[in-house]
Amino acid sequence: MSETEFPRALADRLRGILIDADYTVSGVRDRLGDAAARALAREEPVPALRATGGDERLGLLLRLWWLQAAIPERAARAILPVDELAAAGLVTVDPDAPGGPAVRSLVHLGPWELEEGRPGFVVSDPKVRPGAGTVPRPDHVVGAGGASATLSQLIVDGPVDRALDLGTGCGVQALHLASRAREVVATDLNPRAVRLAGISLALSGVTGARLEQGSMFDPVAGERFDLIVSNPPFVITPESARFTYRESDLPGDTVCAELVRHAPEHLTDGGWCQILANWTHSDGDDWEDRVGGWVTGTGCSGWVVQRDVQDPAEYVELWLRDSCEHGTPEYTRRYDAWLDYFEREGIKGIGFGWICLRNDVAQDATVRVEELRHEIERPVGPYLPDVVDGAMTAHRLTDAALLSAHVALAPNVVEERVGRPGAPDPEKIVLRQRGGAHRVARIGTVEAALAGVCDGTMPVGPLLDVIAELMGEDPEVIRERTPSALRTLISEGFFRVAR
Ligand SMILES: C[S@@+](CC[C@H](N)C(=O)[O-])C[C@H]1O[C@@H](n2cnc3c(N)ncnc32)[C@H](O)[C@@H]1O
Repeated sequence: MSETEFPRALADRLRGILIDADYTVSGVRDRLGDAAARALAREEPVPALRATGGDERLGLLLRLWWLQAAIPERAARAILPVDELAAAGLVTVDPDAPGGPAVRSLVHLGPWELEEGRPGFVVSDPKVRPGAGTVPRPDHVVGAGGASATLSQLIVDGPVDRALDLGTGCGVQALHLASRAREVVATDLNPRAVRLAGISLALSGVTGARLEQGSMFDPVAGERFDLIVSNPPFVITPESARFTYRESDLPGDTVCAELVRHAPEHLTDGGWCQILANWTHSDGDDWEDRVGGWVTGTGCSGWVVQRDVQDPAEYVELWLRDSCEHGTPEYTRRYDAWLDYFEREGIKGIGFGWICLRNDVAQDATVRVEELRHEIERPVGPYLPDVVDGAMTAHRLTDAALLSAHVALAPNVVEERVGRPGAPDPEKIVLRQRGGAHRVARIGTVEAALAGVCDGTMPVGPLLDVIAELMGEDPEVIRERTPSALRTLISEGFFRVAR
């Protein structure tokens, strides 16, 4: 890929060609069909190559940009400005190709759907499958993948004034931010990433985003943002900065801790920082205290969620698969060295999840730290602020304040009772959220009765008095016992404080 500027006029022209040919998410989906798309997801390109044969425009573009197959030079020149694209480092012409002169792509250029449904495009390095002597280059620019999607679904709704995508790579998060923010800044340590992100944005018709090369917050020293997102190079490895796209030169999980530590210096009041992260689990070390402590240390409110934990061997295999040919002596050597490192450091597992913090000016900022390994509603962004608000509200309410508060059951909550048919009392009562974090809480009969009647019109205390009377219980005892359970249910979003 050439390091030169990608000309604006070329970007506009190529965008027009791609859209005219229906090289869009829906166009590609329709053209490939379900079976070929499923085969591609299994990394089997043959059905897709068969589905895109011939000299028709969309098929040619798909073969060139998506499937990384060479296309005949004559056919390529009929639909694309080949010489300009070659000068910009996006394609190369091979006059001696086996089937006659051919054009090959030097990048992966995929269609993307911007949030308002407009067509966009994401440009990255082609995916490298380790084998036959090929491994990713150290400054490989990774395409939009599963982790990118997880982060984009976390991003809180806009509109905001200024947003930062730290470690932009192919620019996919910057594209998401463009629909939410008046001004987008995208940074990356890797100059090739900065260039490819610039091409993604230009081809997507996103103008005015600022791209900067540099490490961590260096390129935005002294600047503040309403929204910061980052899918950082969080892979925990003994191999210092082997692949820039996934490994930093900081030890262990320090890169994530450092991002969190410095985020508040770059957040406006009420601004959000949302990052994906990996963290270590070691003997005698409570991950909730340690990772929660990163956020607590900033004075911000936050939500830290662990979505998965892998043992060291699983973790090493996950990341070696992308970078080393399986079964080779090199694979064995690196696997062994990686496990040695984990053993030396006392690392027994690696947590995967996200860290969201909000720069609250409130004195009593609260951090919710939890493991959620089940399916939750996505996107998370629309209800994420409610989770943090619920935790803060619960934290603030004293027992007395809670008894005089007006509380309502959240709209997405249902109740389930388990017991012998005909039995007077259920063995178990649970509240279940039908949306959001899909939490389930086991509750007692008093909380169940409260859930059945509280709609925010009456304060909790008098409601509990009526419930106590109906149950033949002492109201004072019920008033004393219930606030603690109710506080947890508010914190988990089953109840909301109406006023
Ligand atoms: C996992 S990729 C994320 C790419 C993209 N934002 C996404 O969500 O798919 C991490 C990116 O961080 C960049 N990076 C690595 N070290 C960095 C550093 N010290 N400062 C800023 N960016 C860095 C890498 O070059 C890479 O593009």
